[in-house]
Amino acid sequence: MKNKVLQNLKIERIATEGKCVGHYEGKVVFVSNVAPGDVVDARVTRGRSSFMEAEAIEIREYSPDRVSPFCEHYGSCGGCKWQHISYELQMDYKRQQVVDQFQRIAKVPLPEIMPIIGAKDTRYYRNKLDFTFSNNRWLTREEIDSGADFERNALGFHVPKRFDKIVDIQHCYLQGSLSNEIRNALRDFALAEQLSFYDIIQQTGLLRNLVIRSTLDDQVMAIVQFGEDDPAGIEKTMQFLKEQFPGITSLLYIVNLKKNETFQDLDVHLYAGKDHIVETMEGLRFKIGPKSFYQTNSRQAQRLYEVTREFAGLTGEETVYDLYTGTGTIANFVAKQAKQVIGIEYVAPAIADAKENALQNGITNTLFYAGDMKEVLNESFVAEHQPPDVVITDPPRAGMHEDVTRMLLMLGAPKIVYVSCNPATQARDVALLAERYEVRRIQPVDMFPQTYHVENVVLLELKNHDDQ
Ligand SMILES: C[S@@+](CC[C@H](N)C(=O)[O-])C[C@H]1O[C@@H](n2cnc3c(N)ncnc32)[C@H](O)[C@@H]1O
Repeated sequence: MKNKVLQNLKIERIATEGKCVGHYEGKVVFVSNVAPGDVVDARVTRGRSSFMEAEAIEIREYSPDRVSPFCEHYGSCGGCKWQHISYELQMDYKRQQVVDQFQRIAKVPLPEIMPIIGAKDTRYYRNKLDFTFSNNRWLTREEIDSGADFERNALGFHVPKRFDKIVDIQHCYLQGSLSNEIRNALRDFALAEQLSFYDIIQQTGLLRNLVIRSTLDDQVMAIVQFGEDDPAGIEKTMQFLKEQFPGITSLLYIVNLKKNETFQDLDVHLYAGKDHIVETMEGLRFKIGPKSFYQTNSRQAQRLYEVTREFAGLTGEETVYDLYTGTGTIANFVAKQAKQVIGIEYVAPAIADAKENALQNGITNTLFYAGDMKEVLNESFVAEHQPPDVVITDPPRAGMHEDVTRMLLMLGAPKIVYVSCNPATQARDVALLAERYEVRRIQPVDMFPQTYHVENVVLLELKNHDDQ
């Protein structure tokens, strides 16, 4: 079936990961970048006995639910794939994904799944963006067909599934404040000064990557990664940013001669300003360094944490475990309402941030431990501390390791609040926890408008707990 063109395929509904579903001769077909209600011609990219994957090559009828994408880079940039769907429908589809995953995978009795908590800001909502310099700009079909010569240096985002091609971003609707100005000015400066853009294949070139982080009160951190240790080029670049953008709160750089762009293991040099920025939430101050994790949508993060705290139903008497605590944001956020909160996380520097955040905020009833969850959370750990009255767990996309889920079943805390960015693995873990727990509440939260991603909070209560 591969490469066969399926004509007049009616797109019926949204499935997982933003793909849509149609049927061809009784077989399910998953199609990307379309909308329910479209009728398309689609070329099969993968054929299996029970389903096919296809890409739309022509849209014959547009769904009445479609809206015009607002970004000039929509289509080639992988960032906001749902711009062609109105925000109201995006919210319905996200909730529906949670319903589908829980019905299909968890298969346990469920309460009504609440309407998703939508975002007030559907644009400029991110506090962190990561741009890549490249000497291999993505050219559109029209540009290639024109036969003209184009500038091949670019600063922007990867084309989906192409590690070597970069869309040159002129305006990004994801991050406000100075983000667009800094990126465009730095690119223009580099072109004018003929500084070299990174070549991912040859692993050469001075300018490699630009990360911009920001806070709700417009503090800005800019981190430039250089692919060559060229002091003159580095000085020229950093001096330009310092002079041109005195509003940058924290100006940093990294020399990265490794094969990949991650810099957790590299030295970060402070060029100007402070070595961190500070986000504020309910009066609590969270220090964000270049290597710190922080939820990328600050406003919706607060909504997510409020739901989490409400589900936990704290009275001030409880011992709370905050599993996968990151920089301890949830732990510190709920601390005032609990007797003590214990956070566990395997990234040691994140735990150092968590402790520092507690200290800065005068919080004295939180404890933080670094290590792999399945190693740290064991019987002797629980014996050393109090057993939990409430467990809050916020694992990565893969969900919890089965040993951790088994440990939670053994512990039998009266309440578990499970926060997840992947309802499929969350539903899988909830199916295991259902041995001793009932699902009481399910609340999806939208952290990422214009994308198919959905965050979900589930409250589990120990069965027959009140009778004991
Ligand atoms: C979704 S984040 C949670 C962040 C945090 N709750 C917050 O809201 O800022 C998941 C966290 O789990 C941590 N993690 C991943 N695998 C782990 C493991 N096996 N043991 C402990 N922590 C782990 C990651 O480093 C990450 O900080």
